Amino acid sequence: MTKPILLSTPHMGDRELEFVKEAFDTNWIAPVGPHLEAFEQEFCHVIGVNHAAAVVSGTAALHLALQLVGVESGDEVFCSTLTFAASANPIVYLGAKPVFIDSDRTSWNMNPELLRAALDKRARLGKLPKAVVVVHLYGQSADIDPILEACNRYEVPLIEDAAESLGATYKGRSPGSFGKIGIFSFNGNKIITTSGGGMLVSNEPEIVIKARFLSTQARDPAPHYQHSEIGYNYRLSNVLAGIGRGQLRVLEQRVQARRRNFEVYRQALGELPGISFMPEASYGRATRWLSCMTINPYIFGADREQVRKILAQQHIETRPVWKPLHLQPAFAQYETVGGEVAEELFACGLCLPSGSNLTNEDLERVVGAIAKICSVGIKMN
Ligand SMILES: Cc1ncc(COP(=O)(O)O)c(C=O)c1O
Repeated sequence: MTKPILLSTPHMGDRELEFVKEAFDTNWIAPVGPHLEAFEQEFCHVIGVNHAAAVVSGTAALHLALQLVGVESGDEVFCSTLTFAASANPIVYLGAKPVFIDSDRTSWNMNPELLRAALDKRARLGKLPKAVVVVHLYGQSADIDPILEACNRYEVPLIEDAAESLGATYKGRSPGSFGKIGIFSFNGNKIITTSGGGMLVSNEPEIVIKARFLSTQARDPAPHYQHSEIGYNYRLSNVLAGIGRGQLRVLEQRVQARRRNFEVYRQALGELPGISFMPEASYGRATRWLSCMTINPYIFGADREQVRKILAQQHIETRPVWKPLHLQPAFAQYETVGGEVAEELFACGLCLPSGSNLTNEDLERVVGAIAKICSVGIKMN
């Protein structure tokens, strides 16, 4: 049977099992232990932040982040529209309302101009959002400086959803380290993984201390179980933190491998009529967590869905670019600023197999299959 080529699969290094074994040998099989503390410290070092709290998922980290900046029922939170639902779900968990902001074409991330105009308008109406969630999409940082400037002007806290962009840079620094709080994901499909996991980072110690408190059931200091607040069971396991420590050590190699995949695709397919690749903004380095391209069906001769289905028949997994959240039935009732750019990227955008463990043969198979669709063509209805 033909070997399936998947979108993005886990890729372990040499040390993960050693760290996990150490957790077993010392019986630290709990959401507490030396790997957890070490993982947080090592992560801070890599990102360039002062404090970090490891939790069970990126979604959990974002839920805590929103609560920690004071988001409550009835508040509004501005959020990128071109992203995974997990960027906005925690806004709704808190009873708040997302307002979706469109992308720009240079980075596919939140358009800083639209954000600034929307904040100006809300300020005039005396109805500022409680927070802004900016997403760093597919391994590329959003244009942080103007976004931060717009937020700072109105003292609206910025939360960075860097779930997909660990290892990227913005003017030499890590996305996730600029706002009041940053969050990351170690889900199985991410550039490094702990099978499931997440991290909340901040330069403000009290925020991270409170995140740890809330993530461990908000237990007050008392000999009995005393709770003055509602907490969550969100702390990462010491065993999984061990995997994270091993993975952090190979992060740079994983970035290089994913960037190489992208270069192979770009060089082989970039000149085909109707194909364009996700641009790399001049302000930083994208990790190419996923290699994304757009297909103009009238020039290429087949549309995104036709290409995706033909590749699927050949056991090559690809995915449409995120369906914008303002088009999702679950978020249909919320307001959107713009939306056309994200809609267009969704209509013609395709994410190619992007794992750091893809072989040359895998890449050749993907390239060959797409080139063949272009040369043979298919009948458009
Ligand atoms: C942009 C974005 N935000 C948040 C998340 C949520 O992370 P997790 O799956 O770890 O909950 C993900 C991915 O899973 C994501 O892609």
